[in-house]
Amino acid sequence: MYSIGNRISWLQGPDANCAKTGPVAPRPWHLVLLGPPGVGKGTQAERIIAEFGACHLSTGDVFRYAARDTTGHAPSPAMATALAAMKRGELVSDATVVDLVRERAQCLACQYGFLLDGFPRTIEQAHALEGILARIERKLDAAIYYFAPEALIIERLSGRRVCRQCRTGYHIANKPPRVAGRCDACGGELIQRDDDKPEAIRIRLHAYAATCDPVLDNYRHQGLLREIDASGGPEAVFARTRAVIQALSKV
Ligand code: AP5
Repeated sequence: MYSIGNRISWLQGPDANCAKTGPVAPRPWHLVLLGPPGVGKGTQAERIIAEFGACHLSTGDVFRYAARDTTGHAPSPAMATALAAMKRGELVSDATVVDLVRERAQCLACQYGFLLDGFPRTIEQAHALEGILARIERKLDAAIYYFAPEALIIERLSGRRVCRQCRTGYHIANKPPRVAGRCDACGGELIQRDDDKPEAIRIRLHAYAATCDPVLDNYRHQGLLREIDASGGPEAVFARTRAVIQALSKV
């Protein structure tokens, strides 16, 4: 069971230093998680890092962290534009996302390895990632792609709730809190993400469909794509994920 630091350098940017506490895995993994919004990437990421190590680097988390900034500093113009796009369910521009990842390249070079979640989402971002990894002399082990029927994805997204305070995630049917509307971990209020509202879900699914194929083809051609059926409960999906990563261990 691995417990990796607080990801603060990823969330805040290169001036912040992570508190790293856990042991380094015998093989630090360099993985990308792909798949439509709400398919369960974050849910699987929690399980992957606990069993195999690596830092969970989600671009969506960087934006949500910036949106919650309590220091009183106004976001930069690029971040303000990004947050407005995110709220509507649209993709943030490639230039902004690539800059954000490039300035956090030290997280990709981290001794713990990485699990990139939500990046790359476009072929331009995939090519930018290849350039960043080449510069820091790291190679991807695999791009794990989760797929599920659209109706299941909409059900997962529309039922998701997150704690306003500690951001723990729930689902009203699949992972309900013990007390309705309250976080089990801290008692905070459970809220719905702005981009989990019906109109934003529709836009997100459309944005995903418009950009995913070239990214999948790119990794398929490189022999890096691993496809996983994300239907069934989280543990069933993780059993498939574990089998994929264990097979990679033998390569
Ligand atoms: P991001 O945060 O990356 O969101 P996403 O890809 O839309 O994915 P989600 O976090 O919504 O879902 P998930 O697949 O992690 O599912 P989860 O595990 O939570 O991006 C948000 C926004 O940021 C984007 O729309 C864009 O604006 C911007 N952005 C970020 N990166 C960008 C980039 N590279 N380029 C441009 N813009 C970018 O599960 C969902 C729910 O289902 C939960 O309630 C969970 O409990 C439940 N659940 C999960 N798995 C199961 C299961 N197996 N069975 C039952 N329930 C399950």
